[in-house]
Amino acid sequence: MIEVPDLANLSKEVFYELLYRQARAMFEDEHDAIANMANLSALLFYSMENINWAGFYLLKNEDELVLGPFQGKPACVRIKVGSGVCGTAVKKEKTLIVDDVHQFPGHIACDSASNSEIVVPMIKNKKMLGVLDIDSPMLKRFSEADRIGLERIVKVLIEYTDF
Ligand code: SME
Repeated sequence: MIEVPDLANLSKEVFYELLYRQARAMFEDEHDAIANMANLSALLFYSMENINWAGFYLLKNEDELVLGPFQGKPACVRIKVGSGVCGTAVKKEKTLIVDDVHQFPGHIACDSASNSEIVVPMIKNKKMLGVLDIDSPMLKRFSEADRIGLERIVKVLIEYTDF
């Protein structure tokens, strides 16, 4: 049984430390990629405040991201590398924080409720696997603390999972 941390009154640093421990505990016993991405998207979706979508896009055929396990409303399935926030994060090989998605050229709107977004690339042994994407209905929802916390969680996912 996975415990979802109670967020009330936690600093982001403490929150991400608890989340990291939860994630690592899940992955230590299970290395299946779909299972781990599915459970991580659920852990994030039900732990993080003010988010409306959390999930994965996986790189297929070198130039296209395809929707993976997620929580939230049904989303667009295919995104070209270089398109939208997800495709741009893959192209740049770095985490992107977008304070207002409506100001991001080429942003792909899957859920009209989304106003800000963070996309963390997943890279294993120099190979791009895809991205973790999280959307929020709040403007400027994501900060450096979120980037650091989520990159650490993506790292532990990659470390323990057979992709
Ligand atoms: N907004 C993303 C598309 C994916 S959805 O947010 C789930 C983008 O611009 O790449």
